[in-house]
Amino acid sequence: MTAGILTIDVGGTGIKLAVLDRSGEPISERLRLLTPRPCPPPVLLQLLAQAAVELPEFDRVSVGFPGAVRNGRVLTAANLGNDAWVEFDLQGALSRQFGGKPVRVLNDADLQGFAMISGTGVEMVITLGTGFGSAFFRDGELLPHVELAHHPLRDNQTYDQWLGDATLERIGPAVWNERLRDTLDLLLRTFRPDRIILGGGNARLVEPGLPPWVCIAPEGAGIRGGAALWR
Ligand code: BGC
Repeated sequence: MTAGILTIDVGGTGIKLAVLDRSGEPISERLRLLTPRPCPPPVLLQLLAQAAVELPEFDRVSVGFPGAVRNGRVLTAANLGNDAWVEFDLQGALSRQFGGKPVRVLNDADLQGFAMISGTGVEMVITLGTGFGSAFFRDGELLPHVELAHHPLRDNQTYDQWLGDATLERIGPAVWNERLRDTLDLLLRTFRPDRIILGGGNARLVEPGLPPWVCIAPEGAGIRGGAALWR
């Protein structure tokens, strides 16, 4: 049997790990760890090294990271709350840590999106969790990352501040759903995607009655996106 793809989804609240086969099917259980606070690079690296020992054999690694990432290097990591991430070469550090195995690191919504899209037309993936993740695909191809999370949306508040976890707790699901519906409408008018796919932990709180161009990805689907990086 070929060794699997260790896929790691680093979130602001939780970190998920699973080993996938080449088609994206999990060949291990899914581990979930709490994200330490704060979580500077050495803390994350050590946590991942310990967790990987419990998983089946893998020969490559895919990582979704909750910030802007360019060529495997982290540019921002607002939800991990540590300046030490800026310009940190996470891809290089993980490859060294995992004995030279190839590693690919990209934004978490970009990685998860691969598991949620249909592969046809212009698709926008939104992940609803600690932050507001966004990814764009055209006919299955990932487009350059747009970090909508930090764009001011309303009353000088960013998408993260308007719809993230902390706000959901404060305003409750009914008002949050109203905000989400208005935001989806704005996104449609701005980007004209053929489809918007909602994922992330808070997608389960989205109320029925969405417009036909919006759908919700099955819970936990995102981690399967790790296999797509190697096709
Ligand atoms: C980050 C994004 C990330 C999103 C979801 C935001 O705070 O800036 O890069 O995709 O959270 O984790």
